[in-house]
Amino acid sequence: MSTGLREQSIGVGLGRLDGIPKVRGTARYAYEQPVPQPAYLYPVQATIARGTVVRIDTGAAKALDGVLVVLTHLNAPRLIDTKDQELLVLQSADVGFRGQFIGAVVAESCEIARHAAGLVEVAYAPTPHNSAFSVGEHGHLLPGSAPGLPRQVSEAEIEAELAGEHGYVSPVSAPGLPRQVSEAEITAAIAAASTAVDQTYTTPPEYNVPMEPHTSVAIWNDGILTMYESTQGVHSFQAGLAPLFGLKPEQVRVISQYVGGGFGSKIEVHAQAVLAAMAARELPGRAVKVALTRQQMFSLSGYRPPTIQHVRLGADLDGTLTAVAVDVLEQSSRTKEFAEGSDLPARMMYAAPQRRTTNRPVVLDVPVPTWMRAPGRCAGMFGLEVAMDELAAVCAVDPIALRVRNEPQVDPETGQPHAFRHLLECLQLGAERFSWEHRDPAPRARLRHGWWSGMGVASATYPDFRVPENTAGIHYQADGTYVVRIAAAEIGTGSRTVLTQIAAEALGCPAQCVRMEIGDSSLPRASVAGGSFGTTSWGAAIAAAAEAFRDQHGPDPRPGAEAEAQAPQVNDDDTSRHSFGAQFAEVRVNSETGEIRVSRMLGVFSVGRVINPVTARSQFIGGMTMGIGMALHEHGVMDPRFGTIVNHDFADYHIPTCADVEDIDAIWLEEPEAPPGVPGARGLGEIGIVGAAAAIANAAYHATGVRVRNLPLTPDTLLS
Ligand code: MOS
Repeated sequence: MSTGLREQSIGVGLGRLDGIPKVRGTARYAYEQPVPQPAYLYPVQATIARGTVVRIDTGAAKALDGVLVVLTHLNAPRLIDTKDQELLVLQSADVGFRGQFIGAVVAESCEIARHAAGLVEVAYAPTPHNSAFSVGEHGHLLPGSAPGLPRQVSEAEIEAELAGEHGYVSPVSAPGLPRQVSEAEITAAIAAASTAVDQTYTTPPEYNVPMEPHTSVAIWNDGILTMYESTQGVHSFQAGLAPLFGLKPEQVRVISQYVGGGFGSKIEVHAQAVLAAMAARELPGRAVKVALTRQQMFSLSGYRPPTIQHVRLGADLDGTLTAVAVDVLEQSSRTKEFAEGSDLPARMMYAAPQRRTTNRPVVLDVPVPTWMRAPGRCAGMFGLEVAMDELAAVCAVDPIALRVRNEPQVDPETGQPHAFRHLLECLQLGAERFSWEHRDPAPRARLRHGWWSGMGVASATYPDFRVPENTAGIHYQADGTYVVRIAAAEIGTGSRTVLTQIAAEALGCPAQCVRMEIGDSSLPRASVAGGSFGTTSWGAAIAAAAEAFRDQHGPDPRPGAEAEAQAPQVNDDDTSRHSFGAQFAEVRVNSETGEIRVSRMLGVFSVGRVINPVTARSQFIGGMTMGIGMALHEHGVMDPRFGTIVNHDFADYHIPTCADVEDIDAIWLEEPEAPPGVPGARGLGEIGIVGAAAAIANAAYHATGVRVRNLPLTPDTLLS
C-alpha cells in the first residue's frame, strides 16, 4: 500500500500532472469543448459613459446571411433575479459605464457575428458623467503627487470635492470595530508625536489580465442550462447564474476543466455569461459561444480599483509607533458597489496604542471593479510599507530594525494572540540571504557606470481563510485506483497536482493510484479557488473523505467501495490568523534616463506546511512578478472625458515579461507549530504579490533619494 508514498505525498515537489496535456494542447479550456452546432456571439457595447439608448437599429445586422439572433434591451428576455446590477444585461435602455453590453449578435460564425455587431446603429441620450477618480481633474489634487500641487488637502476637502454633482462618498468604515479611536483622538495623537509621516499614496486601476479571456459556452436542453465556463468556482458560478433565469442551482450544470488564469476576475459571474445563456435560450439545443476580446475585458471583467491612501504615522524619535491612521478612497462603480478594503492591513500589521483606519468607495460612472490577487492587502500594503520606509528614514533607523521595534505581541486590532506570526523571522532570514548588511545607511550612495543602485524591503501579509462548505467523494476502482471527486478549480496553480498529493497521503497510496475529478458542478460541493483558501479547504474535505473511506471499508477495500465526507468545521475564532512574509528588492536606476530595473528580488514567506515546493514557489514568484508589474508597468489610464480606459490592450497596458525579471527567488520558513498534513498548510496564492511593489519603490528611493508615492514608478518620476 505504501510503495512510493514518501516520493509522492505532501511536501514533495511532484511535477504538474496536467503539464503534458497543457503543452500538447489537449487540455480543454471552456471555449474548446466540443459542442454540437456551435453558434457564436459578439456583443455590442455602449460608447457613452452614462445615459440611455434612445434608438437601436438592428435591421442591417439581421439581414446579414448567417445571423441567427440579434438581442437588444427591446427584445431580450426578462431576467428574474435583479439584485446584481452588473448582471442585468439588456434589461433596460440605461447605460452605466462605457463598454457596457447594449446588444448582441449570434451567428453561424464568429466573423459574421462580429461584422453584424458593427452594423447595429445606436443613438444615445447622454447624461453628464463623472469617471475621474483623480480629484485633480476638478482642480484640487492629487495630494502630494502632481508637481506644482504640493498642498496637502484635508479629508473634508476631499469629501466635499467628491460629493455633490460629481458623485458621492459613502463611508463604510465599519463602526464598532474594536480599538478604533476617533478622528479627533488620532489627529491629536499624531500632533503630539515626536516625529511623524503624513503622506498620500496612490495606486492606479490594475487589471487581472489572465491569458485566457472570459469565456462562456451555453446550451439549453429541456430546461437544463449547461455552461462551459472559465471560472474560479463552478458552484459559486452556478449559484450566481441560476436565479437570474429563475432556475434552481441544480438546473444549471457548470463545467470548467481548465482555466487559463483568473487572479480574482473569474470569481464572480460576469455579464458575458448571462448574455451567452440568454442568447442560447433563443436557440434551444445549440451551443452559443462567447470569448471576450482583450479590449473588451478592460470594461467587462473587473479590475483592481485605484486608491488614494492618506497614511499618517506618529512615532517616538526611535521609530516606536504611537499612532497609525490610514484613510483610503477606493474607486467603485455606480452600476455595482465594490470595495477591496485597502485599509485592512494597517489594522493588524504594527503595534501602536492609537489606531484609526477608514475605507471609502468613491462611486463613479466606470466599469465594475472586482477581486484581484490579494484584495485590500496588495494596494493597502503599498501605502503602509512605503510610509514605514519613510519613517525609518526620518528616524535614521534601519527599515528592518523599525519593523522589529513595532512588532505587536498580540493582534493590535482584536487583542487576540497570534496563531502564527513569523514576520521577524522572515525579515531576518531574508536579510541574511539578501546580504542586507552591505546596504548603505544613506540613500543615493552608490553610482556605478551611470546606474544608481539600492536595496529596499517591505513586509507582506495575507489572512488565513478556511471555508468549511466542502465535500469530497472517493470511489475505489477494480484497477486499484481511487477516483477522488470534488468540484475544485484548476486556474493554473497546480491544484490537480497538490490535491492528488493530499489524497495520496490521506489514503496511504502512491500518487499514481489517485485520479482527481474536478471542475464540474455535478461533483461534490466545493468553494472557489480564491482568497488563498482553495487548496486547504478542498484538501480538508479530501482528508475527511479518506478517513471516512478507511472507517467504512478498512485497509483492504473491495472494488466499488465509496465514501463521501464534508470538511470538519474549524473553530479557531480565538486566535489571530494571518500569514506573513518579507520582500527584498535591489534596483538600479539609470542616472541619465531614469530607467529602472529590478536586479534582484527575494521573497521569504511563512505559510505553514508547504504541500508542494514546486507549485508553491511558482505561486510566490508569480505573485512577486505581478508585483514588479504593479511597481513599474501596470497603469490603467482613464480618460475622464469619455469614461474609457485608453490603454486597453497589451501594447499599452504593460505586464512584466521575462526581460523584466532578472534574479527572482522565493523561500519559506519551516514552522515548528504547524501540524503535519493539510491542517498545517495555509494559503499561498496571494501573499507573493503583497509588499512587492513597496519593496521596489523603497529600493528606488534608496538608490536615488527620490521618493515616489504614486504607482507605477516611471523613469520621469525618478529623474527629479
Ligand atoms: Mo483571489 S483575488 O481571491 O482569486
